[in-house]
Amino acid sequence: MVILQLRFLLVSFFTSFVGEAQYVTQDAELMHYIERRFLSLESRLEKCNQEILDYVQEFRAFSRRMISRLEGLNVYKAEIKNEVEHLLTRVERAQRDIDYFESVRESTACVEVDEDMVEQQLNEEAEEKRKVKLMLNTSCDNMLASIKSLKIVKKTGDTHGSWMTDPGKNHLKIYFLSGFKNNVILEFSNIRSFMEWNNKLRARRVNLPFLWQGTGHVMYNGFLFYHRYGSLNEIVKYNIQRRKITDRMLLPGAGQIPAYELIPATKIDLAIDEQGLWAIHAEPDTSGNLVITKINHTTMAVEHTWDTSCNSKNAEAGFLICGTLYVVYNSPSGGTSRIECVYDVLDTINTYEIPVFHFPKRQGSHSVMHYNPKEKQLYAWAEGSQIIYKLQIKQKV
Ligand SMILES: *[C@@H]1O[C@H](CO)[C@@H](O)[C@H](O)[C@H]1NC(C)=O
Ligand SMILES: *[C@@H]1O[C@H](CO)[C@@H](O)[C@H](O)[C@H]1NC(C)=O
Repeated sequence: MVILQLRFLLVSFFTSFVGEAQYVTQDAELMHYIERRFLSLESRLEKCNQEILDYVQEFRAFSRRMISRLEGLNVYKAEIKNEVEHLLTRVERAQRDIDYFESVRESTACVEVDEDMVEQQLNEEAEEKRKVKLMLNTSCDNMLASIKSLKIVKKTGDTHGSWMTDPGKNHLKIYFLSGFKNNVILEFSNIRSFMEWNNKLRARRVNLPFLWQGTGHVMYNGFLFYHRYGSLNEIVKYNIQRRKITDRMLLPGAGQIPAYELIPATKIDLAIDEQGLWAIHAEPDTSGNLVITKINHTTMAVEHTWDTSCNSKNAEAGFLICGTLYVVYNSPSGGTSRIECVYDVLDTINTYEIPVFHFPKRQGSHSVMHYNPKEKQLYAWAEGSQIIYKLQIKQKV
């Protein structure tokens, strides 16, 4: 337990810290070095063998060196300064854990549970839940009851792509983004003009200044949010009417592996639900489990992050309804898509009682599924077809 606790501390603060450190390129190398050293020490600690004493000493010497280097770090941005201070306290805490670990090592070190630490962790979790409840609108209690029907709206564009409406405003307009990597959006005044569109009729074209990556983009309140091609984890906020970039952010920890194993081009999948903007990604550190992040769409700041219990293996898409993540799985050769994992950030749904939801009537894979909370339907792209799945929604009990 002690080891697990330590592992939790190390992994979580490094993933958040290393993400922030991208702003400070001069110090990035030091950060990577520290991260590598820490990860290797940590994995060796985890083995819990008789050489542990040497490792403990090594850890101590290393953290002494690291603290002195961190203190001398160039700290020129307030947010990084806060992170460094945060990191220092957490290193000190990790050291205290190591001390404790050493003191109980003689007895039953590997299985011992420190009651205080468990209690402290429970208190922290309760505090965390209170904060999340304040941040999210808890009166939002929609959940998926069933997938009612499927409508194939059109078959046009590339095999892969993304299409959507804007659940915030201009909700009639259709936005069409063909391909994994492109910079041309087509805008249609409504779904009828999209259905009637052929290459003779003209649609409004918007050329983005940067290419997009994958299929995870969303439209919200007149802005397109998308993962910039060529960047690890940069999300661009683009004003579609004024045709200019409004803001950008980096999503810490994202971009290294696909969000969904079956759609490897999509590293960051963005989602809109009743609560606003979310990002879904996977991390090697969490063995491919999906991580969801609530983003403030106005300030482009990360509001909160959750490590979910849903894995990206054999996943092809995901979406959120009222803060609950639904992950869609398929077979690599493209069979029947089904929702097999559900994760509720407010922990109000008993996820064990939720049945597997099968998508109706067709075989094959999906490039993307985006939920529209106003229309209660999914905009999906499947092998070159643009599809709408109507959902039946019920109240959380
Ligand atoms: C919270 O959600 C409910 C139902 O979705 C909505 O009626 C209400 O306006 C929301 N409140 C806020 C503060 O967004
Ligand atoms: C986004 O952040 C701003 C400033 O902190 C805050 O006023 C606003 O309520 C936030 N928006 C949402 C949707 O949470």
